[in-house]
Amino acid sequence: MSKYQLDDSPIYLNGSDVPKNKLDISDAEVIHEIENDLLIEAYEKFLSELNDDTKFDEEYFINLHKKTFESLYDFAGKYRNENMSKGDSQFCLAEYLDSESKRIFSELQQDKYLTIFDNKEDFAKRLAYYQGELIALHPFYELNGRVLRLFCDLLAVFNGYKPIDYTASIDNEKYIEASIECVQFADTTKLEEIILSGLSS
Ligand SMILES: Nc1ncnc2c1ncn2[C@@H]1O[C@H](COP(=O)(O)OP(=O)(O)OP(=O)(O)O)[C@@H](O)[C@H]1O
Ligand SMILES: [Mg+2]
Repeated sequence: MSKYQLDDSPIYLNGSDVPKNKLDISDAEVIHEIENDLLIEAYEKFLSELNDDTKFDEEYFINLHKKTFESLYDFAGKYRNENMSKGDSQFCLAEYLDSESKRIFSELQQDKYLTIFDNKEDFAKRLAYYQGELIALHPFYELNGRVLRLFCDLLAVFNGYKPIDYTASIDNEKYIEASIECVQFADTTKLEEIILSGLSS
C-alpha cells in the first residue's frame, strides 16, 4: 500500500510509492538514486546561476522542480490538482493552491527575499516562516521537501550563508515533527531551531 493517501493515483505505480516515470523504473532504490543524482546536479546548476538579480518568485520556485525532475517525471513543475495529506496533516486544498502560493511569494518579495534581515537569528526565523508555509502548501505531487529545501538553500546563499545543514534532523523524525507543527498548528518554533543550528556563514 502506498503511504500516500491519494485515491486512484495518477502519479504512483499501482499501489507502490514509486512515481510513474519516463524511464519505466519500478524499483524504489533505483528511482531514489536517480532522484538523488538529479538533485545534486540541480544544486550545482542553480548555485552556479545564482546572482544579484535572481528573483525568488513563484516562477523560480516552480522552475526548480521542473528543471530538476523533468527528465524523469511528467508532473515536474506542475502543481497537483488533488488534495493531499500525510499522517494527520492535510496540506493546502488543491483549489487554494494558486492563491496561497501567490500570497507566500508576494510576502517574500515584500521582505526583499530576506535581505532586510541582517542578523542570523532574524534571518533564520523568517526563513523558517517561509519554509513552513511551503511545507503546508505542498504544491507538487512529490519531491516537495527536496525542492523547497533547495529553494531555501539558494535563498540562504543569496543572503551570504552556506546551504543549510539538515543532517541532524532529516534522517530521523525531527524534521517531520517540525513539519507537523507547521502544517497542523502553524507553529514554526521547531523548524526555526533546525534552520538556526544548520545555518552558517
Ligand atoms: N505527517 C506529516 N505532516 C506534515 N508534513 C509532513 C508529514 N510528513 C512529511 N511532511 C512534509 O512533507 C515533506 C515530504 O514531501 P514530499 O514527499 O513531496 O517530498 P520529498 O522531497 O519526496 O520528501 P523528503 O522531504 O522526505 O525528502 C517532508 O519534507 C515534510 O516537510
Ligand atoms: Mg516524497
